[in-house]
Amino acid sequence: MRRDFLSILDLEPHDLVQLLDDSARMKKARGGEAERRILAGRCLAMVFEKASTRTRVSFEAGMEELGGHAIFLNPKDLQLGRGEEIRDMARVMSRYVAGVMIRAFAHGTIEEFARHSSVPVINGLSDREHPCQILGDLLTLSEHFGHTDGLRVGWIGDGNNVCNSLILASGMAGLELTVASPGRYRPERGIIEAARSAGAEITLTGDPREAARDADALYTDVWVSMGEEAEREERLAAFRGYTIDEGLLSLASPGAVVLHCLPAHRGEEITDGVLEGPRSIVWDQAENRLHTEKALLAALLRPGAR
Ligand code: CP
Ligand code: NVA
Repeated sequence: MRRDFLSILDLEPHDLVQLLDDSARMKKARGGEAERRILAGRCLAMVFEKASTRTRVSFEAGMEELGGHAIFLNPKDLQLGRGEEIRDMARVMSRYVAGVMIRAFAHGTIEEFARHSSVPVINGLSDREHPCQILGDLLTLSEHFGHTDGLRVGWIGDGNNVCNSLILASGMAGLELTVASPGRYRPERGIIEAARSAGAEITLTGDPREAARDADALYTDVWVSMGEEAEREERLAAFRGYTIDEGLLSLASPGAVVLHCLPAHRGEEITDGVLEGPRSIVWDQAENRLHTEKALLAALLRPGAR
């Protein structure tokens, strides 16, 4: 595996298979004595420029379960907040810790950190991608269906960071992906091209019903991501008709499931009835962040990993 995990594109198909196998194995063996030795004595620094519940807690708990330790860092408490340069912080932190996870506004911040770091760097969400989320999602789909190959997934909503990582993973995972987004909220052309040139089958549409029809899984995310709060009214208007509700779900295949990376805004991108209903597998999906991140941390940070 590559040293850094900044993008789904950092994985080769065999890395993805290995990570998902390791995640499933670690999930089964959770709490055993052996896992506490995997990262014993190793530290992960976690820098969060934005809020987080799942990413912070799952990485922190994951490091603890593997026998290591996580250090939560908020830019306000770092010299970064007083103008220290990213490249200086990267070189210094590399001397202290075994790895760094960063959630940043700009993807370029994480890339710059990685360029100057000598330890593995993990993207904990940027404006461009959320690759750790997609690892958990693929484990969840493969647990539920027994495989991911050939699954029809309908993304309904914002063509944002989570959607971008799903698009980039779709070829490797064998998903048939349809993305329904209103015109200006479609995913970036560069992301679609990168995925298609890696063999992905992606359909883009402005009709949520087209993405829902016969899908095995419907997936959505908030309409107003972190940092986009000023666009709230405009976005709520643009996404009208994109709510995953019982009507849209009825178009999907009879055994279809519903995914949401969370946090959810009930009544906006998803109804309370669907989120709490029998097709929703969002709580398993959230749990699987822990197991896939443990596998990722073990692969990147264990002694002798590189
Ligand atoms: N899905 C996800 O990354 O959630 P948090 O923002 O709570 O970390
Ligand atoms: N698209 C959302 C994902 C949150 C996990 C955001 O960036 O806020």
